[in-house]
Amino acid sequence: MIEVKNLHKSFGEAHILKGITTSFEKGKTNLIIGQSGSGKTVFLKCLLGLFDYEEGSIAYEGKIFSKLSPDEKRNLRAEIGMVFQGSALFDSMTIAENVMFPLRMFTKQSKSEMQDRVDFVLKRVNLDDAHNKMPSEASGGMQKRVAIARAIVNNPKYLFCDEPNSGLDPKTAIVIDNLIQEITDEYNITTVINSHDMNSVMEIGEKIVFLKNGLKEWEGSKDTIFKTDNEAVTNFVYSSELFKKVRKMYLEENS
Ligand SMILES: Nc1ncnc2c1ncn2[C@@H]1O[C@H](COP(=O)(O)OP(=O)(O)OP(=O)(O)O)[C@@H](O)[C@H]1O
Ligand SMILES: [Mg+2]
Repeated sequence: MIEVKNLHKSFGEAHILKGITTSFEKGKTNLIIGQSGSGKTVFLKCLLGLFDYEEGSIAYEGKIFSKLSPDEKRNLRAEIGMVFQGSALFDSMTIAENVMFPLRMFTKQSKSEMQDRVDFVLKRVNLDDAHNKMPSEASGGMQKRVAIARAIVNNPKYLFCDEPNSGLDPKTAIVIDNLIQEITDEYNITTVINSHDMNSVMEIGEKIVFLKNGLKEWEGSKDTIFKTDNEAVTNFVYSSELFKKVRKMYLEENS
């Protein structure tokens, strides 16, 4: 469980996060949604400790991040897996070397232990025979799977994904979403995903935090998002014609 209280973040004069309070639950896919520029990536980077912030607190299992010692921070970082916006693989390394990288960084495992673990996670993301390919030889969907394999190779307690399915066709995007949800469930991970994709909301939005202009405008789940009359949320949800139609059908059925 990650608890955020009254988080404020500015860049110079620009006040980006304006007092966010929320929590992200263990074993769940927690979604942060909102329009481009609403502050999702900045928020995620604050959670990860990559950005300082002026006010507020972030607690991991009740322990306030900013009060941890350097050693404790390092230990916590070793428990975090991250899938960055874009896949951010190392171009000069093979897929297997990419996935092995966090093990080299954070563990003292032997070469054969590392190889076994890499085999296991690549299999888990359905990439059995891609070990020796270079990232440039992999499709977008494969690259995302490699990024997910790399993020989970070290058995993380926390998984952060920034727009994990951007740039993918809708079908592959759902495969990636479902993979993240299965892994979250299987290993009881606290997963936080930035998204502006309504398909993701419907597939995996167990907890949803909606950001607007750096504020939490609404929170709920995929079961409540279609019932809210919060105008900002409905504008976001029904920005596509498809969902306008779905809403009309829903309202007709329930009238
Ligand atoms: N390093 C930075 N320095 C200054 N301003 C920044 C920095 N990073 C982000 N911002 C500003 O913070 C605001 C929120 O940006 P952020 O990247 O969090 O949006 P987002 O919700 O992730 O958008 P998208 O959906 O396009 O990824 C934007 O106005 C952006 O210009
Ligand atoms: Mg972003």
